[in-house]
Amino acid sequence: MSRDRQLTEHTRLVVVGQGHVGLPVAMRAVSAGYCVVGLDVDAVRVWSLKAGRSYVDGIGDVDVCQALATGRYRPTVCYDEIETFDAAIITVPVPVRNSAPDFGFLESAVEGIAPQLRAGATVVLESACYPGTTEEIVVPLLEKGSGLAAGTDFSVGYSPSRARPGNPKWTFENTPKLVSGVDDQSLVTVRALYDILVDKTVPVETVREAELAKLLEDTFEHVNLALANEMAMFAHQLDVDVWKAIDAATTKPFGFLAFQPGPGVGGHCLPVGPGCPPWRAPRLAERDFRLAGLANDLNEHMPDYLVERLAAALEARQKDLSGSVITLLGLAAEANTGDIGESPALRVSALLAERGAVLRAVDSHVEPHRCPAAVKLVELSESCLRQADAVVLLTDHDDIDYELVERESQLAFDTRHRLRGSQVEYL
Ligand SMILES: NC(=O)c1ccc[n+]([C@@H]2O[C@H](COP(=O)([O-])OP(=O)(O)OC[C@H]3O[C@@H](n4cnc5c(N)ncnc54)[C@H](O)[C@@H]3O)[C@@H](O)[C@H]2O)c1
Repeated sequence: MSRDRQLTEHTRLVVVGQGHVGLPVAMRAVSAGYCVVGLDVDAVRVWSLKAGRSYVDGIGDVDVCQALATGRYRPTVCYDEIETFDAAIITVPVPVRNSAPDFGFLESAVEGIAPQLRAGATVVLESACYPGTTEEIVVPLLEKGSGLAAGTDFSVGYSPSRARPGNPKWTFENTPKLVSGVDDQSLVTVRALYDILVDKTVPVETVREAELAKLLEDTFEHVNLALANEMAMFAHQLDVDVWKAIDAATTKPFGFLAFQPGPGVGGHCLPVGPGCPPWRAPRLAERDFRLAGLANDLNEHMPDYLVERLAAALEARQKDLSGSVITLLGLAAEANTGDIGESPALRVSALLAERGAVLRAVDSHVEPHRCPAAVKLVELSESCLRQADAVVLLTDHDDIDYELVERESQLAFDTRHRLRGSQVEYL
């Protein structure tokens, strides 16, 4: 079948991964008229979707119900159910394990769809990854599983997700979308696929350039967050208020962009991209990507620093971390989202549990089955605040009652500079 056929409302699209990136893509594709299979290995998530319930901020239950009602959206855990498809968009994570990317999810996703790949189809990777992933991992697995040739029989491209779940201004639809293909025709079909879904596509000449652009965007944020974090630790030693210093610096109208310190860096994206060059560069370019490596070190160290500071604050009140009840406010990686993937709260919880703390957490956004086992999810209440030896604000969701926290907590360790009061210690 020709690769230049038009995509229409009869287009059968598979979106692999129904998480914070994949679900909004699937919902938009249904409203654009595509027939969409939403594939995910997480049975709890698929079960929610089938019941018309969303777990992704910015996508309401009503959106999922409407998509189901069209008869053109089918969430499933089963790769056998996808049959053939015209296009597939892969949105599964590529996490970093032991300083190197772990391709397990991506490989099994590609191996899952490859047997259903037919001539003329288009496959796009959206995941955050290192330059080379599309051509070195996705293409060979698709060719092996289908017996077809990329760039001849089928189209392949990379179009990085720039999702920022919970951001009310920038959505999947109105954020310019980079598109690329392994050959000219792949770029044309990848672009045509997204032209129907988003306001603006931006073609990039090669797949590697698009992958590097994504890496650059993520590294930019990662390095700047590391700078803010290092500045916060330095300012604490100097006994200077880093938050006021940042506000002051922000008045410079050029050459400065404000980034806020925090408990570490999370989301699948941020730590993933910049984590890859140190793994890859020595092998390929025989050169270390020092800045990204340093940013990783700094950002990964933040949970340890936070726990040490908390232990010291408790000690100053004649309390030991071991046996103390600690209530964590917010577990998600970003405010106003349930995105817990690689969230610093996971590391903070693990460290606190290792030190013998009794952990509670308040987060109305995260899915309970994705919370760390050591943490008991509770509702925010006077009693949960009063019973806690310390409250730690990790994610500043808008639905947290900050006045209640200020009024009822004995000690509040605030990593986001949202709380006021004499019992508050800032990062
Ligand atoms: N969340 C963000 O803000 C954001 C922004 C831009 C890019 N990204 C990138 O997009 C990718 C996905 O991120 P996310 O936030 O959607 O993650 P997520 O954890 O919310 O969702 C990923 C989903 O993929 C599913 N999955 C894993 N392996 C699978 C497989 N083999 N087959 C089918 N489903 C599988 C998981 O069960 C999960 O539901 C990552 O590479 C991330 O770096 C994320």
